[in-house]
Formats: sequence, C-alpha cells, structure tokens
Amino acid sequence: MSKTYDNTEFVEMYDELYGDKQYPSEVEFILKSYKSIHSKDPRSILDVGCGTGTHSLILSNQDIDVVGVDVSKKMIDEALKKRATQSSDCNFFTSQDFDFCQKRNLKKFDLIVSMFNVVNHIHLLGDLQSFFSKISSYLVEDGVLIFDMWNSVAVAKDLPRDRKVEKIFSSGEKVVTTTSCDVDLMNSRVKIKSYLERKDQVFNSVLDHSLWSPRVIKEILLSLGFEIVILCKGHNLKIPAKNEDYKICFVCRKVRK
Ligand SMILES: C[S@@+](CC[C@H](N)C(=O)[O-])C[C@H]1O[C@@H](n2cnc3c(N)ncnc32)[C@H](O)[C@@H]1O
Repeated sequence: MSKTYDNTEFVEMYDELYGDKQYPSEVEFILKSYKSIHSKDPRSILDVGCGTGTHSLILSNQDIDVVGVDVSKKMIDEALKKRATQSSDCNFFTSQDFDFCQKRNLKKFDLIVSMFNVVNHIHLLGDLQSFFSKISSYLVEDGVLIFDMWNSVAVAKDLPRDRKVEKIFSSGEKVVTTTSCDVDLMNSRVKIKSYLERKDQVFNSVLDHSLWSPRVIKEILLSLGFEIVILCKGHNLKIPAKNEDYKICFVCRKVRK
C-alpha cells in the first residue's frame, strides 16, 4: 500500500483534495450498470478500497446492505467519522479484519465496486491477480464487478498535463489544488504530485500509480471466469473506451466459478 494513505494529514485532507469528484453521479452509474445486467437493484455491495467511504455512504442511503473495506486503517477511521455524522448503517472494515471474518464466515455480495483507480495502487502482477481472485470469491454467481482505472494506452499516447482546480466554499474560503505527474513509461509508473493551498496553509502529497494495460486486466478477469460486459469511457455505459480515454471503467459479470 502507498504510505500516503497512512499519512494523517493526507487522510484528513483527502475529501478536500478530491472535492471536484462527482460521487453522486458515479453512484448513479454503478446502479445503472447493475440494473442493465440484472434489471433490479443489488441487495448487497462490497466497496473495495472504499477510502473515506463516500460511495459506500451514498449507496447505503438507497436501502442496500453496504460494506466498505480498505487496506488503510486511517482511511477506514475517516470513513467511520463521516458515518457518525449521518444516519447510515454502512459497515466499514480494514481489509485485514474483513478477510479474517470472511475466512470464518463467508458472505457473498451481489455487486463489488472498486472505484477511483484502486487497481493502480497495486504494483505487482501477482498481487493484481490475487486482488481479483479474492474479489471473485466474495461475489455471488452471476454477480457484478465494476472498477475504474487509468488507461495506460492513453497515458502513453498523450502524457498527463498539469491541472489546477479552484474550489470556493459557501463560506468564501478558497482551496486551490495543483496536480502534476512524473511518468516513467518504461516501468509503467506515474508519480502524481498534488499541492493544495488553503488560506495560509499548503499541503503536498505524492501518489505512486502503476499503469496496467486493459489487455492484462482482461486476461486476468477472463481467467477467473468473468465476462466483460463493457469497458467504457469514464463512467458512461453507452461509450466504449478508446485508446485516448484516460479514465476507463470495467463492468463485468461473474459467469463461472
Ligand atoms: C484513490 S483512493 C479511492 C478511495 C475511494 N474509492 C474513493 O473513490 O474516494 C484509493 C484507495 O484504495 C486503497 N487501496 C489501495 N490498494 C488496496 C487494496 N489492495 N485493497 C483495498 N484497498 C486498497 C487505498 O488505501 C485508498 O484508500
């Protein structure tokens, strides 16, 4: 796991750093994708790499049994703090605790999601295979898996540019986030450097991402008995992903054990 998610300052800043992310519309996309396959809502969802729990908390408001898990205890603690401010019965666990409970009493889910580039945080092929294999074992037969990631093809075609996002809160407070990337294509790695300015405070973070090719991911999924329903552009079910699409999302169905 990246040490960044063990850094208290980063974890506390996480929701501000990614304040421009459209969580409610991603949740809509998730539910729409599931419905396009099963014509109904899922009864249970596992959110792998749930971070501070934003998707999980929104999903749990829809009368769905939701569990969020994350390798980082600090992210889980932040998700629990957020849950305490809402009336949600969503459960949050560290991956370690959750896997331990699953070994004793296996619970399977209708839908598993892993959103916002969680797979890019995995750096070894063997670990990526184990990640999907565990996910498969936690999914009911005919269950659905949805996850998004960076498209390594798009990054190689057109290197990421610096980005500056300004957010002004209703209090008038301004937060400016500047992001730049160091790309090492020969090793399929990207270092994402973010710099957040708020009042007289500044905050720096570095995230190390591995770029997986869509082809490698497909091979792993097919070997585990998944059917790829669609590999789409961003979070748009109607648009198949192309080479130049930076953010791509897999919607898959487990068709055999
Ligand atoms: C960019 S954050 C995304 C968090 C959340 N899904 C969101 O959309 O805000 C990536 C998260 O994945 C977690 N993570 C990385 N590798 C993981 C793994 N193998 N299993 C579970 N969580 C993982 C990190 O700790 C981090 O919280």
